[in-house]
Amino acid sequence: AGNGAVKHFLDLDTLPPDELRALMRLSHDLKSRRHEIAAEKPFAGKVLAMVFDQPSTRTRISFDVAMRQLGGETIMLTGAEMQLGRGETIADTAKVLSRYVDAIMIRILDHRALEELAAHATVPVINGLTRESHPCQIMADVMTFEEHKGPIAGRTVAWTGDANNVLASWIHAAQRFDFALNVATPPELAPRPALVDWARSNGAKVRFGNDADEAVEGADCVVTDTWVSMGDAEYERRHNLLRPYQVNGALMRRAAPGAIFMHCLPAHRGEEVTDEVMDGPQSVVFDEAENRLHAQKGILAWCLEGAAA
Ligand code: CP
Ligand code: NVA
Repeated sequence: AGNGAVKHFLDLDTLPPDELRALMRLSHDLKSRRHEIAAEKPFAGKVLAMVFDQPSTRTRISFDVAMRQLGGETIMLTGAEMQLGRGETIADTAKVLSRYVDAIMIRILDHRALEELAAHATVPVINGLTRESHPCQIMADVMTFEEHKGPIAGRTVAWTGDANNVLASWIHAAQRFDFALNVATPPELAPRPALVDWARSNGAKVRFGNDADEAVEGADCVVTDTWVSMGDAEYERRHNLLRPYQVNGALMRRAAPGAIFMHCLPAHRGEEVTDEVMDGPQSVVFDEAENRLHAQKGILAWCLEGAAA
């Protein structure tokens, strides 16, 4: 049997808007009825394998706790401790893991490796971050925005900083959830052309620019992320280029009254964001971190439901 029906969660641009909206509703429901649902143990007998080729605090713990709270179990692995580290192919690894577990979550820098794993797995594969995208994070972010500010459609989010994996998923989300996204990055660290073309050709309301003040003006939400992502080199150069994109009190005051601040974390205080903003009244970063748990319960339920069908 082919695996065309397997419900992978790889990227926000690979899923239709109505499916993402349904997934979001599922996450909200799993959060609001979390005590009743935990008692039902809907994931009883299900095992999630998690492969981490890079460090993680939130993704690792929230997926683990999500499975446990819903009655399932997890196996935590690193590429280095598997035969993957000695040259077994991704394809063979995918086929073998599919015989044991009900779903696979992987964090790996090489996005092609994620896609290859999904192409050969007969169980759902979830993207736990690659160098190119971080879709689980942005499901939690949209959820957090809507809890604080109401429906995100028609609203404005501003991104200031590096054009990294988290921004890529925000760009996908802007198109899928129909909100405006103002992006400010240094010209030297701009989003890759394929992503800009994707946004343009799919009618996304994304404005690409280089001025943080301009991007933040009147926005309902200001977002940033680290200046040096996992796998990045040129620490000094990045710091010099990105310093003007710091989110501080003066920048936040340009946003709409009542605007919120989000950051996927881990934050580098004093670099991309000041303590004043991180700990200030507009910051929702810890609600955002909590929502990784609830958003991922939705993602897991959506993936595993496909497997049971
Ligand atoms: N935001 C996020 O994915 O954090 P971790 O790297 O700790 O998983
Ligand atoms: N952009 C960051 C996100 C960490 C969760 C990185 O890739 O390191």
